[in-house]
Amino acid sequence: MCGIIGFTGQENSVPILISGLYALEYRGYDSSGISVFGEDGIITKKVKGRISNLEDKILSEGNLYSECGIGHTRWATHGEPSDVNSHPHFTENLSLVHNGIIENYAVLKKELQSEGTAFLSETDTEVAARLIDREYLICRDPLKALNKALKKIEGSYAFGIIFREYPGKIFTARKNSPLLIASGSIGNFIASDIPAILKYTNKVIRLDDYDTAVISKDSVEIYDKDGNASTREFEEISWSYEIATKSGYDHFMLKEIFEEPEAVLKTISGRIKNGIPNFSAEGISSERIEKVGRIHIVACGTAMHAGIMGKYFIENFARIPVDVEIASEFRYRNPILNKGDMFIALSQSGETADTLAALRLAREKGLYTVSVVNVAGSSIARESDEVIYTLAGPEIAVASTKAYTVQCVVMYLLALDIAYKGKRMTQNEVMLATEPLVNEVSMRLSDVLGFSGYVSDICRRIAECENMFFIGRGIDYALAMEASLKLKEISYINSEAYAAGELKHGTISLVTEGTVVAAIATDASLWEKTCSNIKEVKARGAYVILFCGDNIDVPEGICDSIIKVPHIDGGLSSLCVACAFQLFAYHTAKLRGCDIDKPRNLAKSVTVE
Ligand code: F6R
Repeated sequence: MCGIIGFTGQENSVPILISGLYALEYRGYDSSGISVFGEDGIITKKVKGRISNLEDKILSEGNLYSECGIGHTRWATHGEPSDVNSHPHFTENLSLVHNGIIENYAVLKKELQSEGTAFLSETDTEVAARLIDREYLICRDPLKALNKALKKIEGSYAFGIIFREYPGKIFTARKNSPLLIASGSIGNFIASDIPAILKYTNKVIRLDDYDTAVISKDSVEIYDKDGNASTREFEEISWSYEIATKSGYDHFMLKEIFEEPEAVLKTISGRIKNGIPNFSAEGISSERIEKVGRIHIVACGTAMHAGIMGKYFIENFARIPVDVEIASEFRYRNPILNKGDMFIALSQSGETADTLAALRLAREKGLYTVSVVNVAGSSIARESDEVIYTLAGPEIAVASTKAYTVQCVVMYLLALDIAYKGKRMTQNEVMLATEPLVNEVSMRLSDVLGFSGYVSDICRRIAECENMFFIGRGIDYALAMEASLKLKEISYINSEAYAAGELKHGTISLVTEGTVVAAIATDASLWEKTCSNIKEVKARGAYVILFCGDNIDVPEGICDSIIKVPHIDGGLSSLCVACAFQLFAYHTAKLRGCDIDKPRNLAKSVTVE
């Protein structure tokens, strides 16, 4: 979704803002803009489309040098993507960028219009700009004006604001939308997301909800929700700038798939002691786990699919009932939540609005909340009782790959931890189950990456089709759902995931000569049944691609193409299949010429409901 960058220091802010905007591109956007201090006031340049359009505009309109400015990538919510609706929004006195949604913007707009204020855009953000401006005209004090306006604003916001009469200063405020302050040798920054500042510094302070702040080239002042000055320590982010670049790969997505072996090793490192999962550093204690009678896993999209994998692992190992639900549904259906229940939120970004809202509901109801999150210090991480970080490193491509893989790994380990603490598995059984995770998964994932070219060849047939099915049983059905989502989101091929045994209850009517059906089979105990389902579609002319473990005995003629992955015990071949279908989606989308890292209409972190 939208991105914010701001810089004040002793270098030209223009290239710094532009590079920050490029680093935020992955979040998804449809327009971009900057405002900087010029000799006679604030200069704003903004334009619909790619950041390169903004660069062209800046270059074609003369030399722009300024040591302080703000920038924004917009993902349209109120009003179509257009030059005028893009940020920054400005008045005579200030210029402002905003992430989030002003929910009561219509009421505020009416109020301002009745006082004679004219509006240029259709956005909720311009309402905030004009509201702050109104207060500023009364007191001529930016912070006072901001605080007064914030009292009237309902919704979510991260603001970056510059005032004409306060050159060199950037004012900020946040509520339910992430914002950080960073400090480097060339000056200070504000940003909505870490990659925006990584090129210059890794020292950040994450603002809390209701904080306001003012930065200049050599000072950072933060005020808490009561308006009191607050001293905060800078934390050092371990992500490097290189990890947020493509490092020679054609796309971030491919790079991130190739990072999976390492991400798995990092994520399990220190979390298995003598063969037994250990989340004591995360605060997950036997006393808490022993009381758990039911588990609710809540997430969105790919993270929700990792949650379904978690259900299989937990129910299989720990024999505790697990409900998995889409966060946007969970909140609004009055779920039955009991105090002893455990709530697990899965989120790569840690900022997904629906997942965050579901977590807040669970906390309100007194549930024990644990989040599995990739971005340190994100809102979901901060608001959970305990947090288990997936150590995938930054995920830039919109389509989640390595984050999904390590979410599944954490769910596997957590399931064993719950089973062990709940005395559902013996020490020996747990050790046997962690052994392949420690010794095999990373290596076997590397093996799968080695046949990326082979997968690409198979995709030639797929790249031409417009519809396909993924089928599987049990855990392979959970994988089929994710395979289907991955393919459709980046290649725009319509695909559906079906439990293999369910197809014949209606949908098989769509299978005709040449229909592509990808079957997933890692669970040997279900192979016979899945095989029958493959025969059913084959008999109707389907073109069958089989993703399976190399332990599966595949009869001659059952499929047209086969992608065999190394078998790993304990359901862990699923991770190899996941890697293979991610490559499958990637190569198909590439052959179709799609914008793989930034698929249409999608945003990396979905901070609106
Ligand atoms: C798809 C994808 C999305 C996210 C979903 C949740 O590839 O990435 O479906 O999984 O938007 O995002 P997070 O995990 O950040 O909560």
